[in-house]
Amino acid sequence: MTDRLTIRRPDDWHVHLRDGAMLEAVAGHTARTFARAIVMPNLSPPVTKVAAAQAYRERITAALPAGSGFTPLMTCYLTDNADPGEIVRGHAAGVFTACKLYPAGATTNSAHGVTDVRNIARVLEAMQRAGMPLLVHGEVTDPAVDIFDREAVFIERVLRPLLRDFPALKVVMEHITTAEAAAFVEERGDRLAATITPQHLHLSRNALFDGGLRPHAYCLPVLKRERHRLAVRRAATGGCPRFFLGTDSAPHEVARKESGCGCAGVFNAPFALESYAAVFDEEGALDRLEAFASENGARWYGLPLNEGTVTLVRGGVLVPERVGDVVPFHAGERLGWRVEA
Ligand code: DOR
Ligand code: ZN
Repeated sequence: MTDRLTIRRPDDWHVHLRDGAMLEAVAGHTARTFARAIVMPNLSPPVTKVAAAQAYRERITAALPAGSGFTPLMTCYLTDNADPGEIVRGHAAGVFTACKLYPAGATTNSAHGVTDVRNIARVLEAMQRAGMPLLVHGEVTDPAVDIFDREAVFIERVLRPLLRDFPALKVVMEHITTAEAAAFVEERGDRLAATITPQHLHLSRNALFDGGLRPHAYCLPVLKRERHRLAVRRAATGGCPRFFLGTDSAPHEVARKESGCGCAGVFNAPFALESYAAVFDEEGALDRLEAFASENGARWYGLPLNEGTVTLVRGGVLVPERVGDVVPFHAGERLGWRVEA
């Protein structure tokens, strides 16, 4: 039995680093393990301009511990009025790695999101031409659609037509949660990929109601049935190179989670790689962790692989009940692997 596992340093292809005091509190947790991360733009106001992304990137860099080699990869928040010129210019200048599509109303700070993808056809055209990836929050917002079905319906109503209309556009379906999404990504070929979070690998929707209402397990897309969790596990650990690590770490202060209207988001950054390692270990797939965490994403984005390594050690770590003002994923649990300092 392996007790140490050294892998190429991983990247997080989907993270919320926030801003201000929360950014100061969380940036170091991501930078401890990951070399790079795709940083979500759903600030208030959202990051829609090149200059705003540059300024945000500087605030992130300033919040990192001294000597951190961490590189934030910035994204542009798409609105109905998104300007193709601005976006392509930001991409060419090395500021915007990708654009994020939030259907309006789908999740935290998505009020300025896109109300209909037809409104951004010129932007998608320009991105396709520039080879710039589109990252999608893949849920419809139609209130008539059951919240547990919103991802599967998004595939049929929005994603399938979008891939048909923009046949060369590179797309990442973020934080997939369903068997339908896993199968769709697997069968589509090169230009469609998906990120997978640790919470969707560990938890089914039962976790939301385990002995009472569990706000710290609430995120969007919401946790699904057990059969979906198992399908997403098979996707992550099965070796297909178009599935890769994206934590969707989304911190909210404890009072905003434990509330009459709790915010969506799981703060998993402090023990993210440990959490994924537990899953790969349980699935007998530790030999596939490196590809999922450190290779598939970089290759898909066309970026160089990281040079350094991280070492996971069996023996475990006790996850604290609080990290600052936030309750972390796995609070109070023991995880079987820890990242060596
Ligand atoms: O649970 C979530 N939290 N899902 C999202 O899509 C956004 C995120 C956040 O920003 O809090
Ligand atoms: Zn997210």
